[in-house]
Amino acid sequence: MDNSLLNTLLEALELSPDNIPLRSQVANIYMDLFEYSNAEKHLLKIIEVADTNKNKYLLARCYFEQEKYNLTEVIIEEVIANQETTDYLELYCECLLKLNQKDQALEVYKRILEIDAKYYNDSLDDIFRIKNTGTDSDFTDNDAIKFIKKTNVKFDSVGGMQKVKEEIDLKIIKPLLHKDLYKAYGKKIGGGILLYGPPGCGKTHIAKATAGEIDANFINIGINDILDMWLGNSEKNLHEIFETARQHKPCVIFIDEIDALGANRNDINKTAGRTVINQFLAELDGIDSDNDGILVLGATNAPWYIDPAFRRPGRFDRIIFVAPPDVEARKSIYQIQLKGKPVESVDLKTLAKKSKDFSGADISSSIDIAIEEKLQESFKDGIPKPLTTKDITKAISKMKPSTKEWFSSAKNYALYANDAGLYDDILNYLNIKQ
Ligand SMILES: Nc1ncnc2c1ncn2[C@@H]1O[C@H](COP(=O)(O)OP(=O)(O)O)[C@@H](O)[C@H]1O
Ligand SMILES: [Mg+2]
Repeated sequence: MDNSLLNTLLEALELSPDNIPLRSQVANIYMDLFEYSNAEKHLLKIIEVADTNKNKYLLARCYFEQEKYNLTEVIIEEVIANQETTDYLELYCECLLKLNQKDQALEVYKRILEIDAKYYNDSLDDIFRIKNTGTDSDFTDNDAIKFIKKTNVKFDSVGGMQKVKEEIDLKIIKPLLHKDLYKAYGKKIGGGILLYGPPGCGKTHIAKATAGEIDANFINIGINDILDMWLGNSEKNLHEIFETARQHKPCVIFIDEIDALGANRNDINKTAGRTVINQFLAELDGIDSDNDGILVLGATNAPWYIDPAFRRPGRFDRIIFVAPPDVEARKSIYQIQLKGKPVESVDLKTLAKKSKDFSGADISSSIDIAIEEKLQESFKDGIPKPLTTKDITKAISKMKPSTKEWFSSAKNYALYANDAGLYDDILNYLNIKQ
């Protein structure tokens, strides 16, 4: 930078201090020279008479560069209230990160991508692609290989769900183990199973058990995670995940919250959503790649939001309702979950009867609550006491079954949007005759 130009302009400015274009030029030169405090002084004077968004943005940048983040925030928020451009939002996003407001920064980052899908910023991308876990998914990093898990959960640790187990066995386990037989009869292998139903009733659990049953690798991903953590890069990451699975066969890929890709959902950017959906379908179809030995299971609490394209043959061509456990299933879930815990002649039948409408997760909670109470008691004399039937029924009576709420909305879809009898299982479960 030519300092003599700056000196000339400064001299000129002495003579005509109200010349705003001149002062702007001076401020710009200072900014180019990284002399932000000098630039700031001139910008403040400029803004006294010309408080445009542009000038305020420049001032905010000067504050930011001088690490005055609170001031930056105040000014840039004013600017954005008037007008949202990617430049303004970028500064805002960076400022929020400096102020440790990550969630809000992520929202701003999403907004930038809404405005400009091609926007790219390496350092912001790095931050948002790896952070922001906190859901029950296993994602912690953007390196797909890390999501591969081995699991020792097997079908025998899943109570009830007989029909689901049979379907999974027939549709995805047997074909994997007896590939040649299937081929000999000309039976097509492939396609996935979509599990739907109220939360906490074992969708994730059975997916994991499927992997354990055949000693396969297990990849558990939530679509929301893919969309959130890899903003702008979702397709690439989906592809990486499937590629990783293909390199680690046999492998069960479990994709949770599939409804998040639903065309009806308005909370994802429409175009971004569409590309991810297309990529996902391409991966399912196994175009240009070999999906042999890859088992795909999907889960959702809201199947009605799912794009019908997902249900075509070779994709999720089986859709299975995972109902809340019936009395027999609850009995076996209690048995499974109490295994290894200090209990005294617990009457499983009573527990199963008393826990009507409970999900598997509710059953877990009832045991947890009973254990906590027991712990409190044991503190008094320091002697651990076994759980009894009464302890658990007491806990049950304090709880509200969590599955009912789901059915109140599911019922409407089953009654009024029951495309080709897709939700007949829900109606059957509710004893509604058509
Ligand atoms: N059928 C079942 N057998 C044994 N445990 C179950 C069963 N269903 C649910 N659970 C327990 O409840 C927890 C939550 O279930 P999960 O599979 O995450 O539900 P979903 O994925 O349907 O929301 C599981 O981790 C497991 O401990
Ligand atoms: Mg789940």
